[in-house]
Amino acid sequence: MESPRVIKIFDTTLRDGEQSPGASMNLAEKKEVAQALVDLGVDIIEAGFPITSEGDFEAVQEIATHVRGATICGLARCREADIDRAGEALRNAERARIHVFLATSAIHREFKLRMDKDEIVRRAVEGVKRATQYCDDIEFSPEDASRTEIDFLCQVLEGAIDAGATTVNIPDTVGYGTPEQMSQLIRTLRERVPNIDRAVISVHCHNDLGLAVANSLAAVQNGAGQIECTINGIGERAGNCSLEEVVMALRTRQDIYHATTGIHTPRLVPTSRLVSSITGIQVQRNKAIVGKNAFAHEAGIHQDGMLKERSTYEIMLPADVGWTKTDLVLGKHSGRAALADRAKTLGYHLEAEQLQRVFEDFKQLADRKKEIYDGDIAALIEQQMREVPESWSFVSYRVTSTSGSSPEVELSLEHGGEVHQAKMTCGDGPIDAVFLAVEKLIGIEVTCRDFQVHSVTLGKDAQGEVSMELEYQGRTYLGRGVSTDSVEASCKAFLNAINRILVMRPETQPVEETA
Ligand code: KIV
Ligand code: ZN
Repeated sequence: MESPRVIKIFDTTLRDGEQSPGASMNLAEKKEVAQALVDLGVDIIEAGFPITSEGDFEAVQEIATHVRGATICGLARCREADIDRAGEALRNAERARIHVFLATSAIHREFKLRMDKDEIVRRAVEGVKRATQYCDDIEFSPEDASRTEIDFLCQVLEGAIDAGATTVNIPDTVGYGTPEQMSQLIRTLRERVPNIDRAVISVHCHNDLGLAVANSLAAVQNGAGQIECTINGIGERAGNCSLEEVVMALRTRQDIYHATTGIHTPRLVPTSRLVSSITGIQVQRNKAIVGKNAFAHEAGIHQDGMLKERSTYEIMLPADVGWTKTDLVLGKHSGRAALADRAKTLGYHLEAEQLQRVFEDFKQLADRKKEIYDGDIAALIEQQMREVPESWSFVSYRVTSTSGSSPEVELSLEHGGEVHQAKMTCGDGPIDAVFLAVEKLIGIEVTCRDFQVHSVTLGKDAQGEVSMELEYQGRTYLGRGVSTDSVEASCKAFLNAINRILVMRPETQPVEETA
């Protein structure tokens, strides 16, 4: 039997994923995600779009300089300044790739670019040629390819490959394609682009119709050798093809796809957790592979079948994608070594200092909660990992609240080594009152755009995790907080977002043509 084809995994969590509303990450967080992607085994990391901001440039440059074990890629429009900036950011990479793109569909040509077909071909060719001055590994994307006239698409790709593109990526930019169409499109390109064998065909599918994974798989079946995807499927609008889903589909159905990847699948759940904790974008419970319920069997008939023979209702082993058993693990008397060991099993790497801080939080939690589960430990670790410099931190609160009248709140926060207190009657509930007191103490006004409470584990004493989205001067900031007390968790989440506002400078300017 022929050995399976190896499909390259191109991860764009740090570029297309980071473009999704509320998903922006700071430099340290981007480096952490990049390292996790290397540990996961991705082939190419698209680390950002260097021309868009100083922050994006710095992130690509830092990742290119320090992260080893994957090709580092930077995005650029077919413009000299973009390409030069990407080339500069990637200078220290072990292996660098420049990804140039230009829209080709009639809609984009006419309404966005106001360019005719000849101009598009000329610019695509010039863009690719300029990128070859910086590295040999060049990817070209005809944006909105799936809505581009096929003859023209073939013509642009032929020109780009002749100019030096080693990968040609076929974006379904608006998630309009279907598996049948994607299959036909890739087959046609292989038949009609004369030099196509000199480049790897890639696909980049968006999920507007929920078809991104299916479309990517259809492309692979018809000869695509690279899939562009993101952790947890985050990305513009409905997101991108989800890495964990497409990888596990290839692996579980090798009988159909005859293809494999270099992904170390037990790292899928820890990487998903990391991205979710950093971006604040929760993974839906029933999400395939990495959702909390992905391997939960509730119906009696299913449980009965599972007890008799696992394969009656399970097509993958939970451990193969990184789920560990959620047994009761630790309690009040557990020591640092036991915590370190558990953290390792869950897939986290903690530096000694981080471990110490998590251990202190763990001891505090153990005083309030008898049974500590894996979910609790993961929440404590993630809280430490995504910490922003705490300009203002929570000390204590007291609220007296009766229905029908405004609560009385007393709040203490620490700032610059001093405790600041506010006492007021305000708001229309205890949480609202605490938020108003925080705003008064800090002297800031924000708008709450999203507020969610989740329980980290089961039981009445379960920790509540609050995630929220604040808007300040037109930008969105995420905050998270964990506590067994939901008002305290809310206050911590609110402060976490405000601390982000206080440290992050507004930097990304919208650019035209970005997908
Ligand atoms: O969706 C898209 O077309 C893109 C391109 C830049 C590849 O993200
Ligand atoms: Zn995209």
